[in-house]
Amino acid sequence: MQIAPFEMERWQSVWENGVELNVSESGVDPMTLGELLGGEAATEKFLSTRLGYPQTNGTEELRSKIAALYPGARAENVLVTTGCAEANFLVTWLLTEPGDEVVFMMPNYMQVHGLALGFGAAVKPFWLRENLRWAPDLDELSKLVTNKTRFIAVCNPNNPTGATLSAEARKAICEAAERVGAFILSDEVYRGAELEGDTTPTFWGEYDRLFCTAGLSKAYGLPGLRTGWIVGPPAAIEKLWSYHDYASMAPTMTTDRLASLALTPENNARILERTRGIVRRQYPIMREWTAQHAADLTHIPPRAGAIVWYGYKQPWKSAELAEELRARKSVLIQSGIQMGLDGYFRIGYGGDANALRQALGRINDWFAESLRGTAATGGR
Ligand SMILES: Cc1ncc(COP(=O)(O)O)c(C=O)c1O
Repeated sequence: MQIAPFEMERWQSVWENGVELNVSESGVDPMTLGELLGGEAATEKFLSTRLGYPQTNGTEELRSKIAALYPGARAENVLVTTGCAEANFLVTWLLTEPGDEVVFMMPNYMQVHGLALGFGAAVKPFWLRENLRWAPDLDELSKLVTNKTRFIAVCNPNNPTGATLSAEARKAICEAAERVGAFILSDEVYRGAELEGDTTPTFWGEYDRLFCTAGLSKAYGLPGLRTGWIVGPPAAIEKLWSYHDYASMAPTMTTDRLASLALTPENNARILERTRGIVRRQYPIMREWTAQHAADLTHIPPRAGAIVWYGYKQPWKSAELAEELRARKSVLIQSGIQMGLDGYFRIGYGGDANALRQALGRINDWFAESLRGTAATGGR
């Protein structure tokens, strides 16, 4: 099997610790271990954790707490994975056979795209449209789904646009999948990080041949725990468990315990409130910056996630723009092309607010220089 490099992950891995200002992250400022433990009693209990192998599919306690996030789900609907990345990997591995077609939402986090291609599928993009405020064109989607379609992959809330699917769009996606007996893979890792309004509805309960993937990395601000999960039909979850045996085999004992602690009802509420506080406080910094660039940039406000997605009018390649900002200004952003769409870039605004302001200042400087034609990319 040949796989294409996962450009975005490599870009971040190589440079995130090699720049002064990293605004390429899509999550919020991570919690400390102390903040998560939240007091002496929990700390004592955690320190007495015996470091044996945990239950390899996740302890019953953790799986039940995850199931409680999905109406009607039970522990047997859940497999605990190493991050949402492993969850997406296992589902794509389970479903994809050479010659299949995968209908894939774009722009997007390109993991499933790259993997499905590697497993021999043809990947057909269904585009979120800027003129529809980053909603899909439902007629176009319906036409893309054929009896060769093995699954439709969505990211809801979407990375990178921060848009969420309407009830009408979710229904149309379920109907298109139902028509041909396809599965739906719904990556919902940003669910819970809404800027306003209710939590984004999950696909869970809206369709049977469904896998929802998520984890604690984004809306919970706990990426270092590497806790993810798949929620799906029990028989398929049982099968995915065997795939998991060949992949990471088990979560770590410490992360199983800490994830379980994060998902007690009180901690769950406390952590999501923290995330929403960050996105609500810090999005106005981006709103103000966007207003300064109204002539150069296009932007549709996100509904969820600590990410903002900008289009620009200059004929720059987004990879060059990102590289220029890194090399000249020591600022790391995410290029659009690594999310499937050139002419755009993404800024993560959920980290330290002062660092964000500094990064935006340096991006302003770069824009000014390059529009004057003094930067290498300028004037093209
Ligand atoms: C949509 C989406 N899914 C999955 C992942 C991977 O998540 P994790 O860090 O939990 O493995 C990311 C990371 O950026 C993401 O944006």
